[in-house]
Amino acid sequence: MTGLFATKSINTLLSETTDDKNSLKRTLTRWNLISLGIGAIIGAGIFVLTGQAAANYAGPAVVLSFVVAGIACAFAGLCYAEFASMIPIAGSAYTYAYATLGEFIAWIIGWDLILEYLFGASTVAVGWSGYVVSFFKDFGIVIPASLSSAPFYYDAATGVWSATGSFINFPAVFIVAVVTTLLVLGIKESANFNNAIVLVKVIVILLFIAFGVNYIVPENLTPFIPANTGAFGHFGWSGIFRAAGVIFFAYIGFDAVSTAAQESLNPQKDMPWAILGSLAICTVLYILVGLVMTGIVSYTHLNDPAPVAVAVNTAGEGMAWLRMPIKIGAIAGLSSVILVMLMGQPRIFFSMSRDGLLPKSFGKVHPKFKTPYITTIVTGSVALVVSGIFPIGILGELVSIGTLLAFVLVCAGILVLRYKRPDIHRPFKTPFFPAVPILGVLSSLGVMATLPGDTWLRLILWMAIGIVIYFAYSRNHSKIRNIKS
Ligand code: ALA
Repeated sequence: MTGLFATKSINTLLSETTDDKNSLKRTLTRWNLISLGIGAIIGAGIFVLTGQAAANYAGPAVVLSFVVAGIACAFAGLCYAEFASMIPIAGSAYTYAYATLGEFIAWIIGWDLILEYLFGASTVAVGWSGYVVSFFKDFGIVIPASLSSAPFYYDAATGVWSATGSFINFPAVFIVAVVTTLLVLGIKESANFNNAIVLVKVIVILLFIAFGVNYIVPENLTPFIPANTGAFGHFGWSGIFRAAGVIFFAYIGFDAVSTAAQESLNPQKDMPWAILGSLAICTVLYILVGLVMTGIVSYTHLNDPAPVAVAVNTAGEGMAWLRMPIKIGAIAGLSSVILVMLMGQPRIFFSMSRDGLLPKSFGKVHPKFKTPYITTIVTGSVALVVSGIFPIGILGELVSIGTLLAFVLVCAGILVLRYKRPDIHRPFKTPFFPAVPILGVLSSLGVMATLPGDTWLRLILWMAIGIVIYFAYSRNHSKIRNIKS
């Protein structure tokens, strides 16, 4: 078992980033990074899942669920910020773990992050497909369900998979293919594209809040916390927590900023700023959207895949002009989440390949475009297949549980490292140490506990596959181990 906990020195990590031949281009400013964060955060969570969370679990108190999930993310965000300022290298939590907790834990995190990024992109692509189908329908163009939905269906009550008769979710496959192509062509181009669509989705959300506030009917907000029905998780306080587990998905993505550290102009300062800034902006927007949405329309009518559109329709003619922009904003919003997720994943694979844990070819940078093109194409191809065949519910829960596991490990890493390596320079330190990392671990575990047993089993299975690959391949090819022996 020797070497399982070998760590990679931070100086080695830093020097690797200055190796010209295989280095990524540093072009991203602080604002690009914040925009990257918002780009990854605002998506299917707010545009699709909020309605279900309000209708089934929390009622207007979904606003409090946003606060609860936001607090859990803030603890993790502070820990990510400390790591990102200390080790400003591409690869996110994987790299942090390699420098601190050892190779095996690093592999575990790296493998787990595939659930967050690659499967995350696939999940949002399925949500994108739903909005695009409804957008075309408004113009009389009908995309048949057999070409725009998953061929498989999973019945959570019986645990049985069945065929839906559909062939493939073509729009989902299409958007993944387009975004992958863009990412191969260049990060600067991709960042510019991202800035433009982030602007669109934020403006649409601000318009919804600013105009929607006039249509709030106070009765819809009373009682603010509907009484519990007798079953755990159905309204009342337990419902607020159950809903927090569902809408946690809406917050995923702020950590994606950390995967672009190597392309940032001033990572040590800008990383913490961008991680915490994008998280704070989105938390405020979410709380306001939740309040306006459940204020305009009774939560009992919100069980709809496009709840923001339901609220706009309920407001009547006064807000009718916002119907089309909302759909465009949602489609733009979901596109940018897919973009940032598909940008993050290859950069994690890139780092793992440099360390020898994945094949060397994964570490190649395109001679002209300067992007990690092989890993981008591999990621895009797998995400494309996953988005084409799986339903959104299964994917979303798997993404949430995988991300939460990464949060637990990152927070634990900060805790361990402050004692083990107090000497490392930390341009940003989480306040209220050790409370913040400890609460980060506990709150992430708490949100994980709200997810169903099936999802836990899938996580365990996924991690078991990762462990087999580690012992069969990665351990024997690890660079750090070969240098030492
Ligand atoms: N937070 C992202 C979304 O809601 C993953 O789509």
